[in-house]
Amino acid sequence: MRQTPISHKLAAIAFGAALGVLSAAGPVQAQENGPGEVTFNRDVAPILQANCQECHQEGSIAPMPLLTYRDAYRWASGIREKVSNRVMPPWHLDPTVGIQEFRNDRSLSSEEIGTILAWIDGGRVEGDPADLPPPAEFPDPNEWRLLDEFGEPDLVIASEPYTLEAETMDKWWRPATPTGITEPRWVKAIEIKPAGNDARTITHHVLAFLQQDEEESPMSAGIVEASTRGGAMGGPDLFMEWAVGKEGEIFPEGAGKVMLPGSQIRWEVHLHAMGKLIEDSYVELGVWFYPKGEEPRNRTRLAFFGASGRTGLDIPPGEIAVTQDFHTLRWPARLENFQPHMHMRGKAMSLEAIYPDGRKELINQVDNFQWNWHINYIYEEDAAPLLPAGTTLVITAWHDNTPENPNNPDHEQWVDYGDRTVDEMAHLWVDVTYLDPEEFEALVATREEARRAAEAATNNSNH
Ligand code: HEC
Repeated sequence: MRQTPISHKLAAIAFGAALGVLSAAGPVQAQENGPGEVTFNRDVAPILQANCQECHQEGSIAPMPLLTYRDAYRWASGIREKVSNRVMPPWHLDPTVGIQEFRNDRSLSSEEIGTILAWIDGGRVEGDPADLPPPAEFPDPNEWRLLDEFGEPDLVIASEPYTLEAETMDKWWRPATPTGITEPRWVKAIEIKPAGNDARTITHHVLAFLQQDEEESPMSAGIVEASTRGGAMGGPDLFMEWAVGKEGEIFPEGAGKVMLPGSQIRWEVHLHAMGKLIEDSYVELGVWFYPKGEEPRNRTRLAFFGASGRTGLDIPPGEIAVTQDFHTLRWPARLENFQPHMHMRGKAMSLEAIYPDGRKELINQVDNFQWNWHINYIYEEDAAPLLPAGTTLVITAWHDNTPENPNNPDHEQWVDYGDRTVDEMAHLWVDVTYLDPEEFEALVATREEARRAAEAATNNSNH
């Protein structure tokens, strides 16, 4: 785990420090290759196959294919811009600070970016046809992303369909669907996907609330109150949040969510019209269970960690506004993912931990937020932050309401919190697995051992 401590100054100074970091990653320059040295067939095609084509092909979510030499040639200036600014492939995390081990990392390395830019700057040479790799094969975009790993879901719950006019205000569709569960089942993985005709083009984001009657055990009573400042949606019943670009959620060994008989899913589907009548679009929730009778030890809950609880959001016209809030953990916890949520003026968001001993650590930061990409950065299991009880999470959000923000619909508006994409939000969605203190100590010890072993191995190889 690579982590960068930040200064022990007041929160106000942390804003400035982190703001300074916002441009640290900066645009990447072309590598120093002579013209013609980099060819499409040999050097660029494999990068596009591995990192772009799943979306950039017919019938997937991107606006144009990037399959052939012709495609890439035509789109070269767009590719140059999006790739050098790290907007494409969508992975907007600051690579210079915090944890960098993620299960779903699809960012390009600096070398790959360099290769693409050198190809463009070197005259877009096609190269030897013999170098071109065979076409890549992709899973059906309408299939579950988790299909390969887990097979078809054990349970699929579909919302009622909705018809959206070609031109209309944003709509929030809130039907409820019984789960049909007849005995308690522990959930290993979940995934949401838009379904039906062209639903993918209009579904901006989906919340699935799991509504069920629960008797609180002492542990779960602690969990419900796990943050001392629970947000409006921090309660036990948010099951999963989905937004464009998000894949499924898999819980680590020994952890999961629980579904009870009599439960139902209440949907909140945010639809955004795209100039075409879309009939009968709906969303599906796929659920993969632990085997019957297998009860994981820890319960994971999706938490809403707001950045704006105390003061609300207050974003003056023409300015960059900074908002910050604090949440203290009552139980030891492992954070499974990091997913900032803002709208069109969102610029950056960071998560810092202040440990009970006062030590501070910047866990992660998105420095290049793109409102139409709600990326869920899912930690590798052995890199996921382990935080003792009493740790304070500091969530900081930056909104750019200046004309320099290309996504800003109107820099003369005073903006506050609201549901529409032209209003703003500022929170993190984090799946939190609360651990009992003994297990927490054991996990910390295992990590420490692994770290020492790795250190010893490097030292040995250096002698
Ligand atoms: C997860 C899906 C996904 C991946 C992976 C992806 N793209 Fe995209 N790309 C999109 C979508 C959707 C859009 C249109 C919306 C947007 O710009 O965010 C887009 C837009 C673009 C655009 C701008 C097109 C325009 O209309 O101006 C370029 C250029 C681009 N992508 C290049 C790439 C390259 C190069 C890669 C790989 C290195 C890549 N993309 C990987 C989904 C993806």
